[in-house]
Amino acid sequence: MTQDELKALVGQAALQYVVPGEIVGVGTGSTVNKFIEALASIKDRIPGAVSSSVASTEKLRAIGVRVFDSNEVESLSVYIDGADEIDHRGFMIKGGGAALTREKIVAAQSRRFVCIADESKLVDALGKFPVPVEVIPMAAQRIARQFAAMGGSAKLRLKDGAPLVTDNGQQILDVGGLSIRDPLAFENDVNQWPGVVTVGVFAHQKAAVCLLGTASGVKTLVF
Ligand code: 5RP
Repeated sequence: MTQDELKALVGQAALQYVVPGEIVGVGTGSTVNKFIEALASIKDRIPGAVSSSVASTEKLRAIGVRVFDSNEVESLSVYIDGADEIDHRGFMIKGGGAALTREKIVAAQSRRFVCIADESKLVDALGKFPVPVEVIPMAAQRIARQFAAMGGSAKLRLKDGAPLVTDNGQQILDVGGLSIRDPLAFENDVNQWPGVVTVGVFAHQKAAVCLLGTASGVKTLVF
């Protein structure tokens, strides 16, 4: 099976976690796009969705799903999103699609995070995938130096030759070379640095379930 087929498989499998009559939280990325495609088949059973990005909002609206502002909704029963890496405890690196801040916000208002991913995303230890960090532009270079002091190498994410601008009007640093032994402590620490909007380690908002697409079908990991 191709990676695209594995993504479609888990996107479809995630439908069973959507609670009829309830608003669903929707993440961002190519795997979530498969989930949104699948959601079209049951869209009349839910009032709508809270979305984690402009891109997902557009896709949800295109299939006729109403998109609620996160402030209109107190809590969500489930949030469905992909990951760049997930470990055996449900801790993740996210933000490859630059939507990490809104993803963390929607995840935080959800009771259950269901991660959908192909098997290449499952790792023993987080950190091979460069950690995305959304930053306030005036702090970018100082934050990059702070990462260098802990052995990391931060690169400003570019799009079409210019710094990428997130949905929140900020920038992304991608930080390679980190060894993240304690994801909870790492997230706590980096989130306190002035100018950091969100670090793409999801330890406090970890997955409760991961639907992993494998050559032999969908494997369900419960954390
Ligand atoms: C976007 C994300 C995505 O969930 C992550 O990058 C995985 O994306 P894909 O499903 O395309 O592999 O965090 O900010």
